[in-house]
Amino acid sequence: MKILTRFRQIATFALCLSTASAITISEINGKKYLSLYKDQPVTNVTGIVTAKGPDGIWIRSPTSDRRFILFPDIRTSESIYVFSRTVGTNLAVGDRITLDGKVSEYRSSPAYLFLTEITAPANVRKESSGNKVTPLIIGRNTVLPPTQQYSSLDRLDVFAVPNNSSQVSVANPTLRPLLYGLDFWESLTGELVTVRTPRAISKPNNFGDTWVVGDWPVTGRNHRGGLTLTDRDANPEAIIIGSPLDGTRNPTGTKLGDSLQEITGIVTQAFGFYRILPLTALQVTGSASPALPPPTTLISSEDCTGLTVGAYNVENLMPTSAHLPRVAAHIVDYLKSPSLVFVQEVQDDNGATNDAVVSANVTLSNLVAAISTAGGPDYKFVDIVPVDDQDGGQPGGNIRVAYLYDPSVIQLRDPNPGSSIDANEVLPGPELKFNPGRIDPLNTDAWTASRKPLAAAWETLDGRNKFFTVNVHFGSKGGSSSIEGDPRPPVNGGVDDRQKQAEVTANFISKILQQDRNAAIIAAGDFNEFTFVQPLETFTSVSGLRDLDVAAGVPPLERYTYLFDMNCQELDHMFISPSLAGKRPRFEHVHINTWADAQGMVSDHDPSVAKLNVCSR
Ligand SMILES: *[C@@H]1O[C@H](CO)[C@@H](O)[C@H](O)[C@H]1NC(C)=O
Ligand SMILES: *[C@@H]1O[C@H](CO)[C@@H](O)[C@H](O)[C@H]1NC(C)=O
Ligand SMILES: *[C@@H]1O[C@H](CO)[C@@H](O)[C@H](O)[C@H]1NC(C)=O
Ligand SMILES: *[C@@H]1O[C@H](CO)[C@@H](O)[C@H](O)[C@H]1NC(C)=O
Repeated sequence: MKILTRFRQIATFALCLSTASAITISEINGKKYLSLYKDQPVTNVTGIVTAKGPDGIWIRSPTSDRRFILFPDIRTSESIYVFSRTVGTNLAVGDRITLDGKVSEYRSSPAYLFLTEITAPANVRKESSGNKVTPLIIGRNTVLPPTQQYSSLDRLDVFAVPNNSSQVSVANPTLRPLLYGLDFWESLTGELVTVRTPRAISKPNNFGDTWVVGDWPVTGRNHRGGLTLTDRDANPEAIIIGSPLDGTRNPTGTKLGDSLQEITGIVTQAFGFYRILPLTALQVTGSASPALPPPTTLISSEDCTGLTVGAYNVENLMPTSAHLPRVAAHIVDYLKSPSLVFVQEVQDDNGATNDAVVSANVTLSNLVAAISTAGGPDYKFVDIVPVDDQDGGQPGGNIRVAYLYDPSVIQLRDPNPGSSIDANEVLPGPELKFNPGRIDPLNTDAWTASRKPLAAAWETLDGRNKFFTVNVHFGSKGGSSSIEGDPRPPVNGGVDDRQKQAEVTANFISKILQQDRNAAIIAAGDFNEFTFVQPLETFTSVSGLRDLDVAAGVPPLERYTYLFDMNCQELDHMFISPSLAGKRPRFEHVHINTWADAQGMVSDHDPSVAKLNVCSR
């Protein structure tokens, strides 16, 4: 109590010292997202130049946390951007200046957060030069990034439904930098910071922007060094490194887990993300080893006791795709030629040419020929052509799901393929009305421009062991807003469609289990969603299937097949019926594409392999 009083006296004294005070940078920034001084003129703002960029300079208040030195307010950034192409002309880093200007809130899209800045600087007076500029070190003292939640507005789940139920720019919450990632980075906006021992957790985007974490505590770290997205932990402790301020360019070959030289730069907000603009380009100092993952350890027994099943989104595959032989090599060398392969994103025979061609016989024949050339089995393939232009993807590409199967191990049970518009049904037995057949293809409510799941029934060549499969490629997340954007929770593009798709598909599967609760069923593919988000929660509860990652005990942080923003994430899944789950299932994700650099990447998804006992008894 006594100490508090003493502090208050000192604070009051300090307050009096800075009399008739000009406004400070921390007052301009304030303790919320939007400045109290938005659109107002300000005079005599004092700061030391910490960095210069092509379109402005950054200045930091010379008096650390304004007046309350003993109670630094970690919510209010001490630094700010002065936007002007000319302001920096006669200034150098270390100059102490005073200027007038206008406080502005800028964003280049309504889906982004605002950046507080000073525009139209005038009366720039240099007061001294050569002042020391020391970066704040992220990860030291109270400069600790929160590791799980982004915003108080997310209701603890960044993927909660409904999405976009509020916006940061409207709610303008008071910053809580120790709890929420967006608040943390906002509280550092404009600051010169250092990232010690940085590690890349993504490949660079087309601009060379690369996600990193430093030596601060993180959650979700996987064996490769990336951060895996898990339920209620979407890794706000990561930061993207943008374009260097000295005009150099970041390297393009950086990959997941690379170690980097120490980074110093300015925290800002642009293009939907908090980012650090480094003083100079990133430098890779080392890479995780081995460079590529080992092949799967799961080898098919080629009988019902241990059939291997692969799944691979082959990214817009067409007959002449440069990556077709590389996909084939992956299936043979890394997936060890599973007895059955679920593929997604197979285009028609002339790819993304928008005409009436819908057959993919040439695409699939070329793929199985390339697999054979690579030393794999002579697969057969089966698909059902979509209705032209109805299933989404690249215009004219008519992507669809398909199966490749080793005819020396399994066969379709009483083949009876449905047409593009025939709805498959579960008949007594259970048996399928069409084999294979699409699920509810005329349900335009559920399938707005997306692929229809393909249900099939299989048996071992002796006809004794029957199992069912559903090959899935749900609607994409296109249209999502940035995980660091204004809508909270962020817009999860297509989530309403995926919800309906999950219900329709799960209902179909549940009918097989209603007939035979011991039925062997595998649903696999690109679900474009995470297991802890509503569509897939519905899918498992309605279908009665189990998540194979869980059933096989895949370590939670190694469950990923895709890199997006800062996260290693799992869009591709296998779900199996309880009878299969009870017979020691195995499952491996082969990180052949997430670990590769941009050049070495063959598809944007990693493939997976399961080994399952499909024996009837
Ligand atoms: C701004 O600085 C000028 C020059 O030092 C001074 O005359 C003026 O009173 C200051 N204005 C405010 C609002 O502090
Ligand atoms: C998600 O946000 C979009 C844009 O505001 C809205 O149209 C859609 O209905 C929302 N969906 C859900 C399920 O929250
Ligand atoms: C989020 O909702 C607001 C309010 O309804 C709307 O103005 C905005 O466009 C939506 N944002 C996105 C990205 O859909
Ligand atoms: C594609 O192959 C299937 C099965 O062999 C056959 O029924 C169909 O006619 C073929 N389509 C075209 C366009 O060749």
